[in-house]
Amino acid sequence: MKVVAFNGSARKDGNTAILVRQVFSELEKEGIETEMVQFAGQSIRGCTACGQCFKNKDKRCVVKNDIANDCIAKMVAADGILLASPTYFADLTTEMKALIDRAGYVARANDDMFKRKVGAAVVAVRRAGSVHTFDSINHFFLISQMIVPGSIYWNMGIGRAKGDVEQDEEGLQTMETLAQNMAWLLKKINT
Ligand SMILES: Cc1cc2nc3c(=O)[nH]c(=O)nc-3n(C[C@H](O)[C@H](O)[C@H](O)COP(=O)(O)O)c2cc1C
Repeated sequence: MKVVAFNGSARKDGNTAILVRQVFSELEKEGIETEMVQFAGQSIRGCTACGQCFKNKDKRCVVKNDIANDCIAKMVAADGILLASPTYFADLTTEMKALIDRAGYVARANDDMFKRKVGAAVVAVRRAGSVHTFDSINHFFLISQMIVPGSIYWNMGIGRAKGDVEQDEEGLQTMETLAQNMAWLLKKINT
C-alpha cells in the first residue's frame, strides 16, 4: 500500500514537510510505502474550465505544461492521499488549490476515480486560519467520495520559522495518531 503526500508550501522542507514526515514515519512502521511531492519551485496553474477532461475521459488534464498530470497520476496510483498546506491568509496555498481544482475536475470526469481512497489534510500555521485551511482540503476529499480518518485534534501544527513545528508537541502527536488511524483504515479497506 502507498500513501502519496503533496506539500503545497512555497518553502521546501519547512513546517508542512516536517508534519508530513511525522505522519510518514508512523505509516512506514505499519509497512506502508510513502512519497512526498513538494511544490516549492515548481509550477501548477489553476483550472482553465475548458471542460475537455469530460470529453476525453483519459484521467488527464489537457493542460500539460506543468506538474498537474504527474500529480494526478500519483494520486490515481496511491491508496491514500495527504494534501498538506501551510495557512496563507487563512486558507490553503494557491498551488494546493490549483491541484484540487485540476485533479478534482479530472476525477469527476472519470467516474470519481478517487472514490474510496483514504484522504487526510495536514496544515501548518503560525497563529490563525488553520481550521479554515483544514476545511478547504476536506471539501475536496468529501466531494470526491473519499474516506477521511480523524485524529486527536484537527490536523495542524503550529510554527512560523522553518522547524518551529518541532516544538509543537500536540501537533506532532496529532500527526502520529492521524497516521495510526490512516494505517488502520487502509488495512481494513484493502483486505
Ligand atoms: C503569504 C503567507 C500568508 C500567511 N498567512 C498566514 C495566516 O493567515 N495565518 C497564520 O497563522 N500564518 C500565516 N502564514 C504563516 C505560515 O502559515 C507559517 O509560517 C507556516 O509554518 C509555514 O509553513 P511552511 O514552513 O511549510 O511554509 C502565512 C505565511 C505566508 C508566506
